[in-house]
Amino acid sequence: MLERLNSIEQEALAALQSANSKDALENWHTMYLGKKSPLMTILGDLGKLSHEERPAIGKRGNEVKKALEAAYADRVEAIRKAELQHSLTAGALDVTLPGRPQSRGRLHPHTQILREIYAIWAEMGFQVYRSRDVETDEYNFELLNIPQHHPARDMWDTFYTTTPGVILRTHTSPGQIHAMREYCPQPIRVILPGMCYRYEQISASKGIQFLQMEGLAVGKNIRLSDLLGTMSEFNRRIFGPDRKTRFRASYFPFTEPSVEVDVSCANCGGTGCGVCKHTGWLEIAGAGMVHPTVLKNGGYDPAVYSGFAFGMGPERIAMLRWGISDIRYFWGNDLRFLEQF
Ligand code: PHE
Repeated sequence: MLERLNSIEQEALAALQSANSKDALENWHTMYLGKKSPLMTILGDLGKLSHEERPAIGKRGNEVKKALEAAYADRVEAIRKAELQHSLTAGALDVTLPGRPQSRGRLHPHTQILREIYAIWAEMGFQVYRSRDVETDEYNFELLNIPQHHPARDMWDTFYTTTPGVILRTHTSPGQIHAMREYCPQPIRVILPGMCYRYEQISASKGIQFLQMEGLAVGKNIRLSDLLGTMSEFNRRIFGPDRKTRFRASYFPFTEPSVEVDVSCANCGGTGCGVCKHTGWLEIAGAGMVHPTVLKNGGYDPAVYSGFAFGMGPERIAMLRWGISDIRYFWGNDLRFLEQF
């Protein structure tokens, strides 16, 4: 029996040396120190031995058990240290490596052109007035002098919601009414930038959502010449002194008289090319003197007050400025496009 204990000890200690991982150690522990291991069985069965045998076997058995437990603890500690050492060398930081370059974002061309436009209008005394994207039929059409069955509604293909009378604004003009109702009877000089929505066939020049920027000036003695001078000055500041501005008579239900504002084509200098459809001119805004009915709807007495309004397309201006050929690029989120600005 003593013989047996000696060989258990030798075999266990040898096996322990080749246990190189936590798993292997656990297996070893079950095999040599577990409840069903030969050693524990011998110790558990001491009572079955004779009085003469029992003390020596018991003594030796406990010695072997202690020796194995001590060797096991040493081994556990050695493997823990080895694993720590390994992770330190394997995951070592090379502080001399160059850093990863931080990729810097940039402003979307929309934002860039808008900020430029805001700055110009700010210098001329216009402040930004925010107005809602979701409008009512009343504000988008009726208060702007476009009654329910007026044929002028054909100018705006509208997105209707499931709530009757609630629509996505087709232009920024309803903001005129909000601004007038808020400021009346004070004079007003505001620009109203924002998204507009039209149910339209998408093409290179038309999207179902696009930026618009309304302008509104209301006060006493505001005349058509103020509108023409202000628009010409804006064009000069955004496009440079070489461009000419032209006004054509037009029609909008909420302005009277109404004009279309054109700028001479930068691509050909006004002689005519593919960009300006051989006219030498590009349309950049609709404008006019605020219609008396609209002034009244905003709370102003048209006998005392007058005003002008315009609506321009910032995307159009950006396209002219940077030679962008398709309005859909603004919403494509294509980095090859965005990284050029
Ligand atoms: N709201 C008009 C449009 O979207 C543009 C416009 C605004 C015209 C203000 C005149 C005055 O077509």
